Amino acid sequence: MGRLDGKAAIVTGAGSGIGRASTLLFAEAGAQVLAVDRDEAGLQQTVKEVADAGKQAFAQPADAGLESDVRAYVDEALRRFGKLDVVYANAGISGGLVPLFEQSVEHWQEILRINLIGPFLAIKHAAPHMVSQKQGSIVLTASVAGLRANAGGNPYSASKAGVISLAQTSANSLLGTGVRVNAVCPGLIETGMTKPIFDMARERGTADKIGQLNPLSRYGVPREIAAMALFLASDDASYVNGQAFAVDGGLSSTHPFTRPRR
Ligand SMILES: NC(=O)c1ccc[n+]([C@@H]2O[C@H](COP(=O)([O-])OP(=O)(O)OC[C@H]3O[C@@H](n4cnc5c(N)ncnc54)[C@H](O)[C@@H]3O)[C@@H](O)[C@H]2O)c1
Repeated sequence: MGRLDGKAAIVTGAGSGIGRASTLLFAEAGAQVLAVDRDEAGLQQTVKEVADAGKQAFAQPADAGLESDVRAYVDEALRRFGKLDVVYANAGISGGLVPLFEQSVEHWQEILRINLIGPFLAIKHAAPHMVSQKQGSIVLTASVAGLRANAGGNPYSASKAGVISLAQTSANSLLGTGVRVNAVCPGLIETGMTKPIFDMARERGTADKIGQLNPLSRYGVPREIAAMALFLASDDASYVNGQAFAVDGGLSSTHPFTRPRR
């Protein structure tokens, strides 16, 4: 038995990185998956990788931060699957590292629109259907950047702190409905978003230092985040609600320190 057998799921940001790995893992676990992304080529690649694994996912091009598109992807999942059990609102952008005094209002608005308002819209449009089914799981991708500084720019960190709050507050807004909302806070994961960091380190010959400041002394891979999303999406997490879980090799457990010589 797969952990998502018989479930209908949506994954946003499914055209790359964590969203692609989650689409694949959810499909392997038995879910029917609608894969949502604004990058159509990335989506096609994801659908192909799922098919190569002997499973099926459906592509839905959409801007996850635009209300009409969110309504459309929820409608499409209901049309295709006849129900909706899981939404993984994962799409996000980093916005890069712009010095504080050079950040424009437009820069902040675009990051908040995709990273925070996108997950809000996913909850707003998906949860009513889950409420009528008396069950459902919504998973959001936050970040260790939402816990404290130095894992992204100011608007990125603020957006991810907002996502953690959104998981807490919306779980409470859905009180008594059977619908759960939780967040995952990834540490440093090798994906499209972090490619420039990895490329630069490899160019400099310092790739072995990436991720060294967490207790596992390494960076993470998308499937390690997908595994947490799968758990939260599944009935195994039936009593887990309103929480944000760091999946970061232990990074957020530490104070700053100097790595001891071995
Ligand atoms: N990679 C990391 O180290 C890391 C750490 C913490 C949190 N995260 C978060 O994980 C999530 C997934 O990112 P990733 O690391 O897999 O990066 P990624 O760039 O590989 O994937 C992100 C995907 O989201 C899509 N996307 C962006 N904006 C969108 C929009 N408006 N509508 C639809 N799709 C959109 C992109 O096209 C891309 O396919 C993001 O929310 C990111 O903030 C990543």
